[in-house]
Amino acid sequence: MSEKLHIDKYEKNWMLISITILIVFAVAVLVAGFALGFQLPGVSDRVDPRTVSQAGPFADPGLREVSPGHYEAYIVARAWSFVPREIEVPVGSTVTFYITSTDVQHGFKLQNTNVNVMVVPGQVSTLSHTFDDSGSYDFVCTEYCGSGHAAMFGTLTVVP
Ligand code: CUA
Repeated sequence: MSEKLHIDKYEKNWMLISITILIVFAVAVLVAGFALGFQLPGVSDRVDPRTVSQAGPFADPGLREVSPGHYEAYIVARAWSFVPREIEVPVGSTVTFYITSTDVQHGFKLQNTNVNVMVVPGQVSTLSHTFDDSGSYDFVCTEYCGSGHAAMFGTLTVVP
């Protein structure tokens, strides 16, 4: 004969609430990732922040076309500016951003897109975005990096 495990009514309710919350979180993560296109910022490379500007792609930061409609944007963040400050791509372009810092921790947030990464000295942060709408997208530093933090911004322009 089996004995039934007794669970208090309130304990049972809280267990159900906890499980429901976990399911809601899991669904939210799946919707964000697959339906809304949220991406985890990747670390594509490790670099030496003291020498990264002297050779390689970050010695000449800017936009490169890798194939028709596909671009790579190499951006250096340093107190207190982004190099380059202005980027221009045609509408419909997919841009992969590679961003690194030569001094302290910065951030890179491209307004009205899902592109938002921490920029840490010693690593290259990367994210991609396809620009289906023309217009002007400002990017700003989102990590407090000193007295010039508020002046650290630039613009990506998507032209028809
Ligand atoms: Cu760079 Cu704040």
